[in-house]
Amino acid sequence: MKLKLVLAAAIVTGLGLTAAIAADEPQVVRQEMMKKVGGAMGAIGAIVKGEKPFDAEVVKASLTTMAEAGKDFPNHFPAGSEVGMDSEASPKIWENMDDFKAKAAELTKVAEAQLAAMPTDEASTGAVMKAVGAACSSCHETYRLKK
Ligand code: HEC
Repeated sequence: MKLKLVLAAAIVTGLGLTAAIAADEPQVVRQEMMKKVGGAMGAIGAIVKGEKPFDAEVVKASLTTMAEAGKDFPNHFPAGSEVGMDSEASPKIWENMDDFKAKAAELTKVAEAQLAAMPTDEASTGAVMKAVGAACSSCHETYRLKK
């Protein structure tokens, strides 16, 4: 009984340690980044669907999040981070790193172009969503595993 308790304590401590280290893992960093991008897309989508009123500041912040993610995202795929931490990264990323980086740069380019044009209402926000959405799909199709 006592031994079991000691073992349980050791397991709990071990888990705590893993969680603390996990936050710095590239798999976690890039997933957090994509979660933010997903949230930004959700905010634009809510306007397009009429769930939220058009808000230029929200659109601007969302596009900025996407433009910045496109620049930094490919930096979080070092060798050795191919699997683990529930990563949905496809092995194709490491086989075609240049193309993968080009797709990330494309997201930045599209988001920046939309920022420069800036939609003025719900309808033009729809066009923004279509444009950035194409950049998301174009990368996910090849480089994100479907789980
Ligand atoms: C350059 C390629 C690329 C682009 C562009 C891209 N993604 Fe991703 N996305 C990925 C990869 C790769 C993953 C899986 C990362 C992992 O699990 O390690 C991912 C994961 C995600 C996830 C899941 C995050 C999680 O783990 O919970 C969401 C949500 C997401 N992307 C949304 C978007 C949206 C929205 C866009 C466009 C605005 C976008 N992505 C553009 C490559 C991309």
